[in-house]
Amino acid sequence: MTDRKVALVTGAASGIGRASAIALAAAGFTIAVNYRSKKSEALALLDELAGDGHQAFAADVADAVDVARLVAEVLGAYQRLDVLVNAAGQFTPQDIKSGDYDEWQTAWQHSLQLNLMAPLNLAFQAARPMMKQGAGKIINITSRGAFRGEPNAPAYGAAKSGLNSATQSLALALGEHGICVYAVAPGWTETPAASPRIRSQGWDDVAAQSPLGRIGRPSEIGNLVAFLAGNETDYLTGAIIDANGASYLRN
Ligand SMILES: NC(=O)c1ccc[n+]([C@@H]2O[C@H](COP(=O)([O-])OP(=O)(O)OC[C@H]3O[C@@H](n4cnc5c(N)ncnc54)[C@H](OP(=O)(O)O)[C@@H]3O)[C@@H](O)[C@H]2O)c1
Repeated sequence: MTDRKVALVTGAASGIGRASAIALAAAGFTIAVNYRSKKSEALALLDELAGDGHQAFAADVADAVDVARLVAEVLGAYQRLDVLVNAAGQFTPQDIKSGDYDEWQTAWQHSLQLNLMAPLNLAFQAARPMMKQGAGKIINITSRGAFRGEPNAPAYGAAKSGLNSATQSLALALGEHGICVYAVAPGWTETPAASPRIRSQGWDDVAAQSPLGRIGRPSEIGNLVAFLAGNETDYLTGAIIDANGASYLRN
């Protein structure tokens, strides 16, 4: 068993997952880099990460069987799992007013499976070894859209809202085993997935949603993830932390 704590980061080949892996490695974690299609990006990331022992693991986290295999492979490689970061996710546009009914159904199924069921299946699989260890942290990347509404992607908003709620439920369920569960709810963040959508809405207009007058940086979310994964944050368990540049302030 490695002495260094191990963090499994899903969707780590790009965007917020990648930034989380970089920040966690800099904080001393060994990273299990999950990717789906971006093998070359995942392998390139391994060389960029501080420290050693990092490995890449292919898995489609929307597939429940693949999730179980992924966690088993990570445990086989390291004999421990200390942190799970559920960063894999995708915004699927929907149009209730003029869209096709079949597309509507498909988008709901895809979005709920990837953005809600996948992190919860991962949490289920990760919680067992964490319970045996008597400690662990699960960090779910949700979204500002869970609170503000997503008129052009209601399934995405609902999935992220469900994940916020499940974060609180799992924090209650797993706290007695020393497992802490958090949600990080980013606003617009400059990632490969989001940047084209930001550009199509007008970069300056989107930036103006924040009093800082800019879009969030992936490193800002990654650093927050690394902070939550570190010491002295257990009492934050169950928290849903906004990271949206004050673009949407909830009570
Ligand atoms: N960027 C934003 O403005 C923003 C705001 C709020 C919340 N978020 C959330 O932050 C998270 C990261 O988003 P991002 O903007 O960083 O997007 P991104 O750059 O596209 O990164 C998402 C990663 O998830 C991976 N992924 C997607 N489906 C997967 C699957 N079934 N199995 C394994 N990996 C999968 C993607 O890999 P493949 O391409 O190979 O599938 C990709 O590498 C998401 O949960 C997103 O909802 C983002």
